[in-house]
Amino acid sequence: MVSLKHLTLTALAATTSAQTANSTIRYMPFGDSITEIICWRAKLWNKLQSTEWGTSAVNFVGSGKTENSCKDTKYDRDNEGHSGFLAVDIASKNQLDGWLKTNPADVVTMHLGTNDIVRGKKSVVEILGAFTKLIATMRAHNAGMKIVVAQIIPMGQASYNPQIQALNTAIIPWAQGLNTTASPIWVVDQYTGFSGTADLRDGVHPNDAGDVKMANVWFPAVVRAFEAARAEKGGRAVRFTA
Ligand SMILES: *[C@@H]1O[C@H](CO)[C@@H](O)[C@H](O)[C@H]1NC(C)=O
Ligand SMILES: *[C@@H]1O[C@H](CO)[C@@H](O)[C@H](O)[C@H]1NC(C)=O
Repeated sequence: MVSLKHLTLTALAATTSAQTANSTIRYMPFGDSITEIICWRAKLWNKLQSTEWGTSAVNFVGSGKTENSCKDTKYDRDNEGHSGFLAVDIASKNQLDGWLKTNPADVVTMHLGTNDIVRGKKSVVEILGAFTKLIATMRAHNAGMKIVVAQIIPMGQASYNPQIQALNTAIIPWAQGLNTTASPIWVVDQYTGFSGTADLRDGVHPNDAGDVKMANVWFPAVVRAFEAARAEKGGRAVRFTA
């Protein structure tokens, strides 16, 4: 009995120290088809490889491994993009909870709301209500979750864009209201400078030019999020030896 107990404690201690020592940052790209069947993830991954945030520092995570036939064939495909999904459904069905259980994360990017507006005819208030629940789910899994939320890209069918702009405008005060030091929310503008005609391949999803624009907007925000995540995960050890 005594030796069994001792073994269990030793195993526990080993697990705990491995988790503490592992400073690899887990990044979950989260959203709908504009996160799943696009190539900005490939471009973002490639852009990160020439920085300190390459594969040994950052691991993309998520249940999705969709092959999108991107120009950049070498990249980490793991993501949590779900084509056709509404934020209000993901929130009401509590789906993010299961996704984060399977693939824990330190950093999340979220581009959601397009299907809510186009398919679901949901109001800005309903969408932000769902976003609030999604943020709470992220923080329940990781109290220090670093979160990047997009003001979403326009649609090809211009009649949807006033509602998209209304959501985008409302995202700023919504994010400010939920912002915390432990778990910051950074808002990035994927709308401004993105053409609903020239940068989309099918009226909804970015073409190559659109993917480049999206990756360039995500890039500085994820780097800032990685830096904040590292300050907690590995930073203490680094500072100690300095
Ligand atoms: C550290 O975490 C990364 C990503 O989660 C994983 O791939 C790697 O195997 C882990 N390393 C150790 C030593 O546990
Ligand atoms: C949230 O706080 C961080 C600092 O922790 C800041 O950089 C960021 O801009 C804030 N987000 C919003 C939406 O104001």
